Amino acid sequence: GKEDPEEAFELIKTGEVETRIGASVAKGLTRFVGRKNSMATLMDALDRVKSGSGQVVGLVGEAGVGKSRLLLEMRNMLAQGEYRYLEGRCLQYGGSMVYLPILDILRSYFDIKEGDREFLIKKKMEEKILDLDEKLKGVLPPFQELLSLKVDDEGFTKLEPRERRERAFEAVRDLLIRVSQEKPLVLAVEDLHWIDKTSEEFLGYLIGWLANNGILLLLLYRPEYTHPWGSKSYYNSIVLNQLTTKSSAELVQAILEGAEVAPELRELILHRAGGNPLFMEEFTHSLLENGTIQRKEHQYVLSQKPGGVQVPDTIQGIIAARIDRLEDNLKRTMQVASVIGRDFAFRILQTITGMKEELKSHLINLQGLEFIYE
Ligand SMILES: Nc1ncnc2c1ncn2[C@@H]1O[C@H](COP(=O)(O)OP(=O)(O)OP(=O)(O)O)[C@@H](O)[C@H]1O
Ligand SMILES: [Mg+2]
Repeated sequence: GKEDPEEAFELIKTGEVETRIGASVAKGLTRFVGRKNSMATLMDALDRVKSGSGQVVGLVGEAGVGKSRLLLEMRNMLAQGEYRYLEGRCLQYGGSMVYLPILDILRSYFDIKEGDREFLIKKKMEEKILDLDEKLKGVLPPFQELLSLKVDDEGFTKLEPRERRERAFEAVRDLLIRVSQEKPLVLAVEDLHWIDKTSEEFLGYLIGWLANNGILLLLLYRPEYTHPWGSKSYYNSIVLNQLTTKSSAELVQAILEGAEVAPELRELILHRAGGNPLFMEEFTHSLLENGTIQRKEHQYVLSQKPGGVQVPDTIQGIIAARIDRLEDNLKRTMQVASVIGRDFAFRILQTITGMKEELKSHLINLQGLEFIYE
């Protein structure tokens, strides 16, 4: 190889970067509450897929309401080995990165790791395809192109861009359908509201092929996103609203485990956080951190009058406030890192920021604050 290996850091959180659920998992998840009907609808869709009728289900709801968590809970309920699960993610500034979520799906299917050399990637793809079905060989050139590798088939490289794109769509479709014939395939696309145009068109195309295949396509997005597929008869959407008062109260108790929650405190959190689980978690933790919530023997209580408790009034506010509380240097590192992308290499960051040793300590700090993961 011509380059030295680089240390890679993964940026998991700049304001709203997509793997917040990953950060939640790392911190330890709050016990899952409510969402019984939504879960039942998902299980229903899964049953239909099992009997060979493909489904598209949208999980729609505002930031922090629990879309990713519901998906996670559903995955945990799937019988081991009975389904295959593949996931693609869209990123906040990923709109110009063509095929981003599709690439995630391919990489995870072919078990391609960050930093794998070109020859290894090609080998993994070829072996896996031939193993699955020799008839699929033709998908290799378009896949090589999608993954920015040197394409081995000259005929393919000479095609018009429009034809290559068509071949790419067909190739991904053929692979997914073939994979779903082994066992039902759950295909999730996270944060569709940030999807790039090409991937969106691909999903539209794939949806047209789902009817008789064992694929459950799950699309997670916020309500501001609208898409052209709503009219298909096998398109269902599950709207996640704020948690009910009962579930919210359960959630507060789950966050503040180990002791009973004083009614006044519970009311404050329910009232200010408006049934949004993320907001409840963040609000409660910030009150714990600044001493507003205290533990008195067997109870969590407020240390001041509820009227005087200050809260940023939106989720964005809370997240922005968290970033604001970072030192300036950390903030700058975060901003630069977020421009480089979800995965950023230490040396690129070093070049751009012009920082040396101190960069390392900032990154370690950011890691400690759970804004980035190595
Ligand atoms: N029903 C629930 N029970 C317990 N905790 C929950 C529940 N729903 C969500 N949470 C917690 O709330 C936080 C936010 O949830 P999640 O990340 O799923 O939101 P989201 O809808 O995917 O938001 P975004 O649109 O920003 O991706 C997570 O820490 C999650 O574990
Ligand atoms: Mg999410």
